[in-house]
Amino acid sequence: MISAERIPNNVDLAGNKRLLRALEHWQPAYLDWWRDMGPPGFQDSHQVYLRTAVSVDAAGWAHFDYVKLPEYRWGIFLAEPTPDRRIGFGDFKGQSVWQEVPGEFRNQLRRLIVIQGDTEPASVEQQRSLGAHCPSLYDLRNLFQVNVEEGRHLWAMVYLLHSYFGRDGRDEAEALLERRSGNDDTPRMLEAFNEPIDTWLDFFAFTMFTDRDGKSQLLSLSESSLDPLARTTRFMLTEEAHHMFVGESGLARILERTCQLLRESGFSGDVRKAGGIDLPLIQKFVNFWFSQSLDLHGSEVSSNAAAYFSNGLKGRAEEDKFDDDHVLAANMYVLDMMDDSGRIIREEVPMRNALNEVLRDWYVGDCQAGVDRWNKRVLEAHGMSERIVLPSRRFNRKVGVYAGKHSDPFGNQLTTEEWERKKYEWLPSPSDKAFLHSLQVTPVYKPGQFANYIAPPQRGINRQPIDFEYVRTEG
Ligand SMILES: [Fe+2]
Ligand SMILES: [Fe+2]
Repeated sequence: MISAERIPNNVDLAGNKRLLRALEHWQPAYLDWWRDMGPPGFQDSHQVYLRTAVSVDAAGWAHFDYVKLPEYRWGIFLAEPTPDRRIGFGDFKGQSVWQEVPGEFRNQLRRLIVIQGDTEPASVEQQRSLGAHCPSLYDLRNLFQVNVEEGRHLWAMVYLLHSYFGRDGRDEAEALLERRSGNDDTPRMLEAFNEPIDTWLDFFAFTMFTDRDGKSQLLSLSESSLDPLARTTRFMLTEEAHHMFVGESGLARILERTCQLLRESGFSGDVRKAGGIDLPLIQKFVNFWFSQSLDLHGSEVSSNAAAYFSNGLKGRAEEDKFDDDHVLAANMYVLDMMDDSGRIIREEVPMRNALNEVLRDWYVGDCQAGVDRWNKRVLEAHGMSERIVLPSRRFNRKVGVYAGKHSDPFGNQLTTEEWERKKYEWLPSPSDKAFLHSLQVTPVYKPGQFANYIAPPQRGINRQPIDFEYVRTEG
């Protein structure tokens, strides 16, 4: 059951009046933001079959029911503490984790939390037009599930800001509601979170690749010496898994439908004419969102990353799976760099400075596993010879050593002129976008029906049938 408290939580808010007052003060501003920037047209007269986090109990942490979106119960939940937890990496390895923020790391920690926090409302803003163009009620519900949980992730970061950063934290919590995705004057902090997500192919590619960046960041923060940050992010990962499921399975269903249409036409027809999405177009969206998300991991060589690791603020994803000393004081990493003429040169850098790249390695591996599943379970199963592939790390980069240089998806260097001439062979063009918009002009709001470009899912949500009324109008 959802608790009767105004802000459901497992952090004993009732026993901390100062914090409770601060959060209750922030809550109306959050609700105003949600009404302004959440899904338009679905705030007052619709009920959505959603899961709500009600505890951190592995056996049943979520409660499923119909709710009106503004009445969703955004709560604060930290994973259970690990008894006698010790710092697992960096210069303080082996010491007890911190329950308070050490003064000397206050600014660094605040920055990490604010950057993570900023991505959460940003994605809700990016996705707000999609409800009017959904391919089914099932997908509409999944969109809203992702949206409300990104809202809860914002709450999670705001809880930390209010609890541990005093006045500065409260100011930052307010600023998180003031920036706007894509706004020229007050943009969100990271580039990928200012890109519009106005087609469902964008949405699925975003939840596959950019929410997966969320996973790598959250995994590395869940190693943090600041125990409340570690516990908060650990629980966020539970919800995040569903976001990536939405992306991976959504794209798989589009691929599935494309294969069906290709078969029906004897593999020779024009999929677009049959109302489907052709494989080269799907590949372009993989190229775009994967490369954007690579940038989110930051520069290959980074003194910030080194400081975060040394100070125990942010570890590597799955730190205990590394069989080194977790201190990395003397280790080196061999990095592909690019000189001014565009030649690739190998350089050894201290491992601590290469930790953005180490996390990117983890991320690429996790993406590749998902792409392999699409290829095997859909394309191969249909007897297709085409495959979806991840583009080279050098492709379409705006951050790090490859920024300002141009490569094709195979990593071959291009001149600026060649890039301008060819980029829409690899990235979504305005006419590709226009085509996708034409496919999603009419939303599908009838239970059990699906737009022609996407196959139904294999099963419904929470054991409900596929034709369940996942979103219903009131009355
Ligand atoms: Fe999130
Ligand atoms: Fe997410």
